[in-house]
Amino acid sequence: MIQLPSKVKIREVGPRDGFQIEKEFIPTEAKIEIINALSDAGVSDIEATAFVSPKAVPQLRDAAEVITKIHRNGTISALVPNFKGAQNAVAAGIDEMVVVISASDAHNQANVRRTVDESIADLDDIFSLAAERSIPVICSAATAFGCPYQGDVPESDVMKLVDAYTSRGAAAVIIADTTGMATPTRTADLVTRVKDRYSDLEIILHLHNNRGTAMSNLLVAMMAGATVFDTALGGMGGCPYVPQAAGNLPTEDVVFMLEDMGVGTGIDLESLIRASLRLEKIIGKTLPGQVMKSGPRDPKRAAELCGIIP
Ligand code: COA
Ligand code: ZN
Repeated sequence: MIQLPSKVKIREVGPRDGFQIEKEFIPTEAKIEIINALSDAGVSDIEATAFVSPKAVPQLRDAAEVITKIHRNGTISALVPNFKGAQNAVAAGIDEMVVVISASDAHNQANVRRTVDESIADLDDIFSLAAERSIPVICSAATAFGCPYQGDVPESDVMKLVDAYTSRGAAAVIIADTTGMATPTRTADLVTRVKDRYSDLEIILHLHNNRGTAMSNLLVAMMAGATVFDTALGGMGGCPYVPQAAGNLPTEDVVFMLEDMGVGTGIDLESLIRASLRLEKIIGKTLPGQVMKSGPRDPKRAAELCGIIP
């Protein structure tokens, strides 16, 4: 028998990682509707938007309005790429901020127009501001398993970021497979290395599915001791600076699999399926999620929710 935790935490990132890459601007009201549906389904942690340059990511230019208008019954975070983003996020009233730096210099340059060292130098101001307001800072090491421009990323470059984050008091570190280049062995190795170095650190896995390995990576990461996962409703998402970007693990697919294996998520699967079907209508295209198409195990409920005719 494999050893699994009795529960894990799901961080929903679709409203940030997904809406950022859509061609058409998703109306603010629709974003709020989806975030509220996620909260109502029992998702306790939602990365709701990003405080980025509206020129770089016009899709999220309504970040402050989204934060102000959503229901607040869990932890709402937002991505910040620099100090200005952190200031705007704090002013809007976020509960937690998510800082992102790529382990690869080439991707960091494309994403935030800074070298990795320049982004690390920005961290002190961001952490001081967060400390003044008692706001936890979650820190993401993007392109941790590979970069679309430079290829392989040395583990030492990932560790350099993890060290920079932990030494400043990061509340958790996200190991992000921005490009879907991880495989189960690479995932288990990196999670184990980080855990060996920082045994008390909360490690979050952020797994894109560009090459079909994301769910396998989640399973081995969980077996290696990770208990927090970023997922996106319907499997939407992708980095604007990754060619052929693919979505995150679909939240409802992860909840279906974990709950069936006895790993609690605290999230209601049927509510998620309804929310992802609604999201598909809002976005106007088929989403990669599978459980939203096949439905839960009970054939009657699958028929009612997803129109499956046995
Ligand atoms: N939010 C809003 N505006 C911002 C900003 C932020 N976080 N950071 C900078 N700006 C504004 C500046 O005020 C300035 O405005 P002005 O032209 O009216 O004076 C302008 O943007 C340029 O500032 P600069 O510091 O030179 O930024 P830049 O052009 O080098 O862009 C980033 C750097 C980080 C702001 C931009 O690349 C970005 O937002 N990237 C986010 C990418 C992303 O979200 N990727 C996906 C998630 S991993
Ligand atoms: Zn992502």
